Amino acid sequence: MAKATLTAVRGMNDILPPETVAWQNLESAFRAVLALYGCAEIRLPIVEQSALFARAIGDVTDIVQKEMYTFADRNGDSLTLRPEGTAGVVRALIEHGGLRGQTPRLYYLGPMFRHERPQRGRYRQFHQLGVEFFGIASASADAEIIALSARLLQAAGVPARLQLNSLGTPQSRAVYREILLQYLRPQAEHLCSDCQERLERNPLRVLDCKVESCQEIARDAPQLLAHLDPESAAHFALLQKLLRSMDIAYEINPRLVRGLDYYHRTVFEWVAEGLGAQGTVLAGGRYDALVAQLGGPDTPAIGFALGMERLLALRAASMGEELAALPHVFLGALDAESLAAVFQRAEELRARGLRVISAGPASIKSLLKQAQRSGAHYQVLLGADDLAADSVLLKEQEGLAQWQGPWTALDQGLMQLGVDFS
Ligand code: HAM
Repeated sequence: MAKATLTAVRGMNDILPPETVAWQNLESAFRAVLALYGCAEIRLPIVEQSALFARAIGDVTDIVQKEMYTFADRNGDSLTLRPEGTAGVVRALIEHGGLRGQTPRLYYLGPMFRHERPQRGRYRQFHQLGVEFFGIASASADAEIIALSARLLQAAGVPARLQLNSLGTPQSRAVYREILLQYLRPQAEHLCSDCQERLERNPLRVLDCKVESCQEIARDAPQLLAHLDPESAAHFALLQKLLRSMDIAYEINPRLVRGLDYYHRTVFEWVAEGLGAQGTVLAGGRYDALVAQLGGPDTPAIGFALGMERLLALRAASMGEELAALPHVFLGALDAESLAAVFQRAEELRARGLRVISAGPASIKSLLKQAQRSGAHYQVLLGADDLAADSVLLKEQEGLAQWQGPWTALDQGLMQLGVDFS
């Protein structure tokens, strides 16, 4: 019996060229924007101790309860593929003393893992660009990081709407939680099974459940914003004032609660059209207690992460301009005698910055086909006779331009045909 073909794991996708070019272009556009805001890159392990996520994200969240890829390594330690980046950044800063008297602004880019039901815009391995600002309690940091998020989406060319909410402090939220529970309990039987199950554990999640019957109940629920403590209310007001001063439009969404437990005060999401329920392309908020909770010095912080796959899906329509840089020239050896000369010249040209594909030895027919497929602008086919006569023909692939001259002066020919060596 034939062996079953091996495939990638469900929800974990290969990213092939030319799609990788779109990724690279987006990543470099993002790095340029991040530099404008003084952010430095941090690169962290993909695997962390499981306890980090349980403590940071919260024991009762869907991520920790249902979605983590957790396994025992050969020593019996419980490890987890990171489902998000914030916990790891905080762990690393505490571990390396990066918060003493400093206000780091860090970003990271890489794969995250969640065992969710895969669909368009939702995968089990997905990529985030995340940004975290530490050490600034004022709403000015919230405004600045939201301005950064707006500029990243603008650089990606993806229009989205900004939604804002404030979750207050853990104390004011605890008071509100009781008020909300009193409202929800009598209607529990009309909630979806997920919400019924998490009602007592995490009633705020009912507010942003996507199921219609839950949304109907959530619409008339008492609002968290009406129960904010005075300091959180002032913080939220200053944030809005600063956003208006920068002409950043926003909507207040009192039902925006987020799926991770570490948030305090400001939470925000950018939502785009075109991906249905997976329209949130970027999300984040303030997490003033997390650093201390993980054993570090008391440090306010705020951050967000954007989903690379979601942004790229929304950009797909405008990807025409993202073609890979095509080779300048294709050098093909027609026989074994000319192969070394082809490889030597190819290396010389690459050392001077040209993109070169070298091939052979092979028949004319095969080399012409390879040259065509390579997409190179120009081609030269070299045989032992040409080498002996020191004369070759350099031809444009898609046009009529050509140059005949010594093999040793091929660079001159390329320049005459307009190839830029600078
Ligand atoms: P999050 O809302 O869980 O937040 O994820 C942020 C973004 O990652 C989402 O808005 C979405 O674009 C993308 N994303 C999440 N899950 C998936 C998935 N299964 N497939 C594709 N894309 C996905 C966080 O992760 C927080 N760490 C953000 C943060 C940073 N808060 C403060 N600092």
